[in-house]
Amino acid sequence: MRNHHPSSGLARWLSLALVASAIRLTATEALPRSVRSFLDRHCLECHDAETKKGQLDFTALRLNLTNAENFSAWVKVHDRVRTGEMPPQKQPRPAAKELDRAMSVLAKELTASDAARQDRDGRVPVRRLNRVEFEHTLRDLLGVPGLKVLNDLPADGRSHGFDRAADALEFSFVHLDTYLAAVDRALDLATPDFVDRPPVSNTATGRGTTIARTATSVIWLFI
Ligand code: HEC
Repeated sequence: MRNHHPSSGLARWLSLALVASAIRLTATEALPRSVRSFLDRHCLECHDAETKKGQLDFTALRLNLTNAENFSAWVKVHDRVRTGEMPPQKQPRPAAKELDRAMSVLAKELTASDAARQDRDGRVPVRRLNRVEFEHTLRDLLGVPGLKVLNDLPADGRSHGFDRAADALEFSFVHLDTYLAAVDRALDLATPDFVDRPPVSNTATGRGTTIARTATSVIWLFI
């Protein structure tokens, strides 16, 4: 990826596309052969349907990396093998070459699937402001630091404990309704009720007055 040769862009794109289509083919099917035989040899003893240590059964776990749970299970497998935690220390060690081959293949599948997901969903999903952010934004835009609209807006959902995650911030007609009503009230509060147009002096000259006069006309455009 650090290669910046001009022709490498297309080549990289093509190879990513190839890897991505290969993954689609194997997504719900069997594991790559090197991974399968590595697991059979070094892991099944404790991780089959019968033993299932750590609730992990490699006879049932499919690759299917588009499934988020499967994806994180395979990341764990990769990481615990790479750090040497699995198989456990008292077990015979897998040959370094065999381990490296199987884990490289697995890592490649994981990175390609993650890249495909990012292409599809983007790195950061677009989301609306939550109600706290919305209140702060109105305060800043309208210059009314004490403005309170938060309690008039529906409570925001949470995802993994966060109230700023796109998947928890839905937008319904109830939201639209209450947010628009909140904006109306905020505008009422922020705009003073002028009864008469303030006097504008036409006699004074000088830069300060001109700026003041321009500012007044601009304000009149908006109210
Ligand atoms: C001698 C038994 C044994 C062997 C062999 C073994 N494991 Fe484990 N494994 C365990 C036990 C016990 C646990 C649960 C305790 C723990 O998490 O350390 C576990 C947990 C795990 C977990 C964590 C599961 C989770 O959800 O947190 C992973 C991943 C894992 N093993 C992968 C492997 C892989 C890959 C191999 C083969 C390279 C392997 N194990 C070989 C006994 C074994």
